Amino acid sequence: MSEQEKIYPVTAEFAANAWINNEKYQELYAQSVENPEAFWAEQGKRITWFKEYTKVKNTSFDPHNVSIKWYEDGELNAAYNCLDRHLETRGDQTAIIWEGDNPESSKNITYRELYEDVCQFANGLKKLGVHKGDVVTIYMPMIPEAAVAMLACARIGAVHSVVFGGFSPDAIAGRIINSDSKIVITSDEGRRGGKQVPLKENVDEALTNPHVKTVEKVVVVKCTGGDIHWHDHRDLWWHDVVAGCAKECPAEPMNAEDPLFILYTSGSTGAPKGLKHTTGGYMVYASLTHQYIFDYKEGDVYWCTADVGWITGHSYILYGPLANGATTLMFEGVPSYPTHGRMGDICDKHQVNILYTAPTAVRSLMAQGDDVMSSSTRQSLRLLGSVGEPINPEAWEWYHRVIGNGECPIVDTWWQTETGGIMIAPLPGATDLKPGSATRPFFGVQPALFDSEGKELQGATDGNLVLQDSWPSQARSIWGDHERFVQTYFSTYKGVYFTGDGCRRDEDGYYWITGRVDDVINVSGHRMGTAEIESALVAHKAVAEAAVVGYPHDIKGQGIYIYVTLAEGLEASDELRIELVKWVRKEIGPIATPDVIQWAPGLPKTRSGKIMRRILRKIAANECDGLGDTSTLADPGVVDDLIEHRANR
Ligand code: PRX
Repeated sequence: MSEQEKIYPVTAEFAANAWINNEKYQELYAQSVENPEAFWAEQGKRITWFKEYTKVKNTSFDPHNVSIKWYEDGELNAAYNCLDRHLETRGDQTAIIWEGDNPESSKNITYRELYEDVCQFANGLKKLGVHKGDVVTIYMPMIPEAAVAMLACARIGAVHSVVFGGFSPDAIAGRIINSDSKIVITSDEGRRGGKQVPLKENVDEALTNPHVKTVEKVVVVKCTGGDIHWHDHRDLWWHDVVAGCAKECPAEPMNAEDPLFILYTSGSTGAPKGLKHTTGGYMVYASLTHQYIFDYKEGDVYWCTADVGWITGHSYILYGPLANGATTLMFEGVPSYPTHGRMGDICDKHQVNILYTAPTAVRSLMAQGDDVMSSSTRQSLRLLGSVGEPINPEAWEWYHRVIGNGECPIVDTWWQTETGGIMIAPLPGATDLKPGSATRPFFGVQPALFDSEGKELQGATDGNLVLQDSWPSQARSIWGDHERFVQTYFSTYKGVYFTGDGCRRDEDGYYWITGRVDDVINVSGHRMGTAEIESALVAHKAVAEAAVVGYPHDIKGQGIYIYVTLAEGLEASDELRIELVKWVRKEIGPIATPDVIQWAPGLPKTRSGKIMRRILRKIAANECDGLGDTSTLADPGVVDDLIEHRANR
């Protein structure tokens, strides 16, 4: 039997104890798609509302009128739901376990302490003149203050825009400009794998961009105590901002459709898009999925290894778990420091029950061999999760056998920044698992597969994945550009949301995500637009033209393969190669570090001048025999040259 056909049935323990068994799944799923109004009216009750909603769903995917509203007349506050409502019952329970980069530093923060910290910083933000609706950019390491800053914004109705700490000054500047942020919150430096990350320095540089006009203050957490430049008129220490502020701060009543946050992500064209997420539907969906998909039970210690700079961190480190009163672990460091056994050691140290990580982390541990985890037992683990990219069956099996000691189901969760929460995933008490498949849709999610002509495909088949109706945590728009939102997601296929992913559905109705069908690549679970990397490259004076494609990479899932045509008269050299790699790191950030650069005297183009990426992808993947039809090329000889000089890797 091939690996792909292997089935891991629901374990007896999960079948008996899980929130949702298969019967219940079938029943609730049917309800959720037959009568979404009634289903979501009921689920909405899990959230505490200041003003009850009377309307539930008001959504249209009609390209002439894309409009998405959930619980539209309800009022609530996300921070209130994550904090205040737990104080009476679990004020002394740990809300956040923080584990430092240094294995000797960790601390537990109770719900009451977190509440007080959030209130105090919320008062600090108010003191700085931050009002409801203002945008606050957060560029921070994985320290508790990052969570405090996000929740403090939510508390006063400010909209947070978290920028991942691995992004460059240019990337920060672009996001600040696009969102008109008034305040930036950062720290002197971050710590990762024993090294310092110059966060404040990056912010300083971003703010030298002449187009940044809105930033009034920069709030700086003293994290490492490293040397930084200080601008008296603009910079404030976090500890000075909170000094003297009260530890009580009323939670601003927000309309369900008021924005909670903006989060930027890459698409196939143009600059990154700021997806706008709103409050009510997002909170309902994040908390519901967190409870059911991770089968979260009172008292569980739950660890999602993502960074708060990504949607996974927003929904499944912070908002979902805290809304559910969970204990959520926040890890400052990296899985390989000080040893590759670190993740297992953390599981043992904090008795983690649920571990949610990315395939790339699993594959890099797998490459170290089976005894990489020998310093820990991981006996506390009950459930494992995977997110961010397809998990190949070998990595799935290894994750299950080695990290989970062969005893923990794995929930492979497919979703996107745009979806706000998990869309397709097993429920561990309901769904038999097939390694490599995200399995079945969550409640209310209606996937379908379309061919390139826009015809819906039935039965077991391959196609482009769309979602046919709205769900509560769906992004409502692209910040400042609703037209782009409509164009990107609702114009390819009429009346449905297009995900950008390819997918296979098997005989059992299980979904297998095959990867992006657009010019987006997924490198170690980080989503990047090839066009963004190309525009960074052509900004270098030596580069006349560049084309970027993804190629299969054993650890990263996809690697970045770049074809560069040099400017007239320039010679290729190793020095130049190194310089271009550095250049891309500087322009976008270390996550976009090129893996391969091939010098290309010419790029394969159609007669109308369009680069034929299909061919470049094949060459990069070393599939030169299956190039298909090249007769429409302006100059077919270009391809032979590229094949002959394929870069070694
Ligand atoms: O291609 C899919 C892949 O990641 C994309 C979304 O990236 P991002 O918005 O950064 O969000 C990542 C975390 C939710 C998707 O379009 N992807 C995400 N999860 C999976 C996946 N591909 C396969 N299997 C998954 N479980």
